[in-house]
Amino acid sequence: MQIHFTNSLASASGCLCAMVPRDLPGLHNRFPMHADARNRPFQSIQTRPPALWGTLPASVVLGAQWGDEGKGKAIDQLAPHSDWAVRFQGGNNAGHTIVVGETTLKMHLLPSGITSRGCKLVLGCGMVIDPWVLDRELVEWAELTGERPEGERLFISERAAVILPFHRLYDSADKLVGTTGRGIGPAYRDRTERVGLRFVDVGKVAGNPDAVNSMSDRMNKQLDTVGVQDRIEPEQLQSELNWILERYSEAIQSTGPMLDDALSRGENVLLEGAQGAMLDIDQGTYPFVTSSVTCRANATHGAGIHPGHIDQCFGITKAYTTRVGNGPFPTELSLEEGPGKQMSVVGHEFGTTTGRPRRTGWLDLVALKESQRLNGYSGLVLTKLDVLGGLDPLKVCVSYELDGNRIDHIPASTDDLSRCQPVYEEHPGFPSLDVDEWIEMAAESRSGEGIASLPQTIRDYISLIEDHTGIPVVSVGVGPDRMASIASSGGPFDVDLSEATF
Ligand code: IMP
Repeated sequence: MQIHFTNSLASASGCLCAMVPRDLPGLHNRFPMHADARNRPFQSIQTRPPALWGTLPASVVLGAQWGDEGKGKAIDQLAPHSDWAVRFQGGNNAGHTIVVGETTLKMHLLPSGITSRGCKLVLGCGMVIDPWVLDRELVEWAELTGERPEGERLFISERAAVILPFHRLYDSADKLVGTTGRGIGPAYRDRTERVGLRFVDVGKVAGNPDAVNSMSDRMNKQLDTVGVQDRIEPEQLQSELNWILERYSEAIQSTGPMLDDALSRGENVLLEGAQGAMLDIDQGTYPFVTSSVTCRANATHGAGIHPGHIDQCFGITKAYTTRVGNGPFPTELSLEEGPGKQMSVVGHEFGTTTGRPRRTGWLDLVALKESQRLNGYSGLVLTKLDVLGGLDPLKVCVSYELDGNRIDHIPASTDDLSRCQPVYEEHPGFPSLDVDEWIEMAAESRSGEGIASLPQTIRDYISLIEDHTGIPVVSVGVGPDRMASIASSGGPFDVDLSEATF
């Protein structure tokens, strides 16, 4: 069954890999060539010899921007080579779309690695999990594939926090951040206040009417403080807790030790990030952030294993920028006209979770460099490059101007960030192609030298990103189809894309 994803991976000091572009037939000839292009080497800073990729057990895939970068598709390519796929933070504020044959599934909690039958799945201890949303996804998955993975290959950390109806109600009062309204922040807040409910404790609370009463009482007082009229009835809460217990008893496991054992057996673990670096609670554009640490530092912690296991960390970035919810966005464009509208319309930039239109803007390399400082990417996956087709010139933000001074970092103050003006470098555009033409170009490039075989204007855009960030681009996405990807030759994403995973 063919599956593909929509939606919504060195150091610079290594030697340069210089590849001279080959003459490829067909579509490549439609791309404008600079006078000296045919003799100019592709300045990819891809430095690691292929043999090094994938030799250590744990890999991380992270959103390098404000979320929705297309992590699912990258994970889809890596999961067949992984024994485990693990979510380590967030909850159903995340979203990815899986197309299986004629059917489209919108997933929010189940790890993207679910599409690889051989991949075991963990919802890690760093997550906040809505049991009802998980149930819906599992039912849809079973209807489509006949598989019931819970307790068989899907395990929920006993330490993960439970999202209850109260958390959703409380989140609905948010007026500042523009949250997804899924109860994520309130569930993390309860956890930090040490009054939250973990899966391991559901049975204990459900069996104790006093504990249920005191929990509903606390919840109702809190709803009062934010002006929400709905009330949590103790009887209802108790029956919900009993349902959670019954529904997930086999899946709730001690997943940290489970993963540690797997790693000691030499199995590979893929750690799937949700949201993006700029939405990190500590390092993002606070307060317009999510409530968890979305960065590499939390990838192992939120899975219950130690950071020494991580070998490689891939950052996923769109070829432009999007953001949903409120908060400063220096390279933001109008959604009503011009390049911003094209990004929105061609890129189908609507939130998978809430359906809200995503705000769009030019690629922000200041944010990407900040993201690199936090995560130390081994490689970048550049997604949705096709969306920029036909825009000329392309702009890329290389620094900000704040009160007359050039800066190349994201200021901690939201007020300061709101005043930052982007400083752009301009780059010649490349033509707009239709979906099939992009797939054809991807196939042509894959049969050549991978990314190095792409047309010059595209390679120049990629080189610009590599030069500014110091990170090699290891894969480029030019459409939602699984075949619409081109990897760096011999790199970690140089995998057989036709491999049906389910
Ligand atoms: P919360 O995570 O629902 O609390 O929302 C906090 C902020 O993060 C809001 O601006 C959301 O729009 C944003 N956000 C949360 N999850 C995602 C995501 O998966 N992609 C993009 N933005 C997100």
